[in-house]
Amino acid sequence: MNRQTIVILGTGGTIAGRAASASDNIGYTAAEVGIEQLVAAIPGLADAGPLIAEQVAQLDSKDMSFAVWAKLAGRVNHFLAQPDVAGIVVVHGTDTLEETAYFLQAVCGPAKPVVLTCAMRPATALVPDGPQNVLDAVAVARHSGAKGVVAVCAGSVHTARDVQKVHPYQVDAFSSGDAGPLGYVEEGSLRLLRNWPEADASRAPDATKIMAALDDATDWPHVEIVMSHAGARGAVVQALMQQGVRGLVVATTGNGTVHQALEAALLKAQAAGVSVVRATRCPNGRVLPKPGDLIPDSQGLSPVKARIDLMLRLLG
Ligand code: SIN
Repeated sequence: MNRQTIVILGTGGTIAGRAASASDNIGYTAAEVGIEQLVAAIPGLADAGPLIAEQVAQLDSKDMSFAVWAKLAGRVNHFLAQPDVAGIVVVHGTDTLEETAYFLQAVCGPAKPVVLTCAMRPATALVPDGPQNVLDAVAVARHSGAKGVVAVCAGSVHTARDVQKVHPYQVDAFSSGDAGPLGYVEEGSLRLLRNWPEADASRAPDATKIMAALDDATDWPHVEIVMSHAGARGAVVQALMQQGVRGLVVATTGNGTVHQALEAALLKAQAAGVSVVRATRCPNGRVLPKPGDLIPDSQGLSPVKARIDLMLRLLG
């Protein structure tokens, strides 16, 4: 176990939420308790070595913004560059945790661990899940050889690429689909099932600088997700093109199939220069490409992650 400093970055979420009654697990306000207070309330957290806590944002993660992502990536890269920092824990809301995890893996490619964690119950709950999740996340961040962006929730460790929120209420709300979890945290020890994500931190300094200079509302490439479903129409694509959309991810049925009316509109958009990507809306598996496919697939990324990937590619 690594006994160097672990940095805990707070961004809000249910884990920092407060409800009027301890028996209320859903009627709370997210992002109210500060990260220092959260950390101080967890017995034994600092026993294995020094901790630094910093509040990067305080929001309900459904409202995650590019500005917060850029700031978070900047702080992650700043702390990872300190030789005495072993790893980072990011305390986050569950709703967009998989998007932030994928974003950080893409722009930081860390050779040290960056562990996102969360809670499904507010800090005021009778039996909150946040403290154990933070303890587990710190244990993963201290694990020798740990690297890359991962998520820890309810004792399971998931990679940024595979993690997906799959339940709106239960405490064990995340899954890695058919890839399976990276490992499990058991009484403070990590049982690793497969390899850590590959590190590629070479782009991190440039990415941090580029993103810090971007305006939240206007400079990030406009990329939207449209869904193929029974009775789908092309009008949504035409409306988005009028808004100047630069990229479209289509959440497809099955193995990358798209309703013919929507597909016709997407092909027109593609011919007009809009980048279009297919990502299956099935929670498991990936689109298996076929000869003659007219729209590229997302290489196994879910629709929300394919959108981030496309935005970053359009940013260059
Ligand atoms: C959020 O995502 O910030 C609120 C919901 C949660 O953390 O479970």
